[in-house]
Amino acid sequence: MMGIQRHRLVLIPPPFQGHLTPMLQLATILHSRGFFITVAHAHFNSPDPSNHPNFCFLPLFYGLSDTQISSKNVVDITATLNKKCVSPIKEVLVDQIEKANINHEKIACVIYDGLMYSIDSVARELKLPSIALRTTSATNFLTYHAFVQRQTSGCLPFQDSMSLDLVPELEPLRFKDLPMFNSGDMQKQVAKTIAVRPSLGVICNTVECLEEESLYRLHQVYKVSFFPIGPLHMIAEEDSSSSSFVEEDYSCIGWLKNQPRKSVLYVSLGSIASWEEKELTEVAWGLANSKQRFLWVIRPGTISDVSEWLQSLPKHVREAIAEKGCIVKWAPQGEVLAHQGVGGFWSHCGWNSTLESLCEGVPIMCQPHFGDQRVNARLLSHVWKVGLEWSNVMERDEIEGAVRRLMVNPEGKEMRQKALKLKNEIKIAVKDGSSYDALNRLVKSILSVNV
Ligand code: UDX
Repeated sequence: MMGIQRHRLVLIPPPFQGHLTPMLQLATILHSRGFFITVAHAHFNSPDPSNHPNFCFLPLFYGLSDTQISSKNVVDITATLNKKCVSPIKEVLVDQIEKANINHEKIACVIYDGLMYSIDSVARELKLPSIALRTTSATNFLTYHAFVQRQTSGCLPFQDSMSLDLVPELEPLRFKDLPMFNSGDMQKQVAKTIAVRPSLGVICNTVECLEEESLYRLHQVYKVSFFPIGPLHMIAEEDSSSSSFVEEDYSCIGWLKNQPRKSVLYVSLGSIASWEEKELTEVAWGLANSKQRFLWVIRPGTISDVSEWLQSLPKHVREAIAEKGCIVKWAPQGEVLAHQGVGGFWSHCGWNSTLESLCEGVPIMCQPHFGDQRVNARLLSHVWKVGLEWSNVMERDEIEGAVRRLMVNPEGKEMRQKALKLKNEIKIAVKDGSSYDALNRLVKSILSVNV
């Protein structure tokens, strides 16, 4: 006699903070919908299993060199991962299928991060349904199609002289905003990524009210189901466990409590982008001269000795930092952005940071560095109008001016009001609107191929 069948999902994130976090949030959400969860992850930058006692974790050795791992070169690591992950992933999936049979379970679906596109062929070979999780914006994904279309019709390479021109079908994006504009390596990855069609479709960590048109067009060109079920961090809210690689410093929450409402600029470039020492010094001057309060994340490894560097700054800058600033190695960003003391975010515009800020109604001073960040910055400044576009010149006067525009000037105030409006729209989408519906559709879709 057959026992009760339990549905297990195998989730496969790449070893990057900005990708692992949303994958674990997705795992939490799907677990709360009755699925059993296995997370197959790289042996470095791994999640902490003790934070997720209900999940099964399987560390895998993909054979990347230490030099490659420490390089933080996402495009290069991704290319190698895709070459090397096929065999270990296949082994793990075969093993999971056997174990599932013994335990009266079924592997209902393989959910892999969109960066790890080569997993799809393994799922197909083993006749397992597959879904890709896209942890960047839908608009960013759409740029991949614009690129491949041009490649097919012989309109490449991009010329530098085009950089400020608008991409006709992606306005207000300019050619220079495209993640693959000046990166040959990225162009190779993009072509491979979009050649893949996961059998059950694509989960997008986005919200319809933010990207309705991009989602519609993606569905038309990509011809698979799209599930815009974000913002994942908001839906997985009941799970407060951290997936940070660096320990969060909660002392900054105590510091924030003593700051006036909406007076603090939160400064953070996420887990990869960084400033060089010379730029850090300009930031310190710019923040001090702006006379605004600030909470600044300087990640370990950004600079060899933070205290020594601080000592090298002129006295009045040091005094301003002591009086109006707080510097930490890594912040509990969710709580920081939700804190009433925070009135602005100087961000690299990574997609997670962008969503986290929008969900708390905090406007952004945009400083995109690479990849999807330029797309997100453009959406923030030109579509949702909650992002400040500034010169991005790392000189103290430019920084001081931009900080004051966001924190003090009427344009910043207007952005804060718009951000609050968006926050409410997102809340509705999550509670019983588009994201809620998409999640139900996703669960139904997984179950329907596993009857
Ligand atoms: C990377 C890419 O750079 C980004 O563009 C892409 O969209 C996702 O992958 P990352 O650069 O780390 O991510 O940026 P982001 O997407 O913003 O993710 C950073 C995460 O780290 C956020 O969830 C944020 O809350 C968290 N964080 C950051 C902290 O918890 N504490 C900090 O001090 C800084």
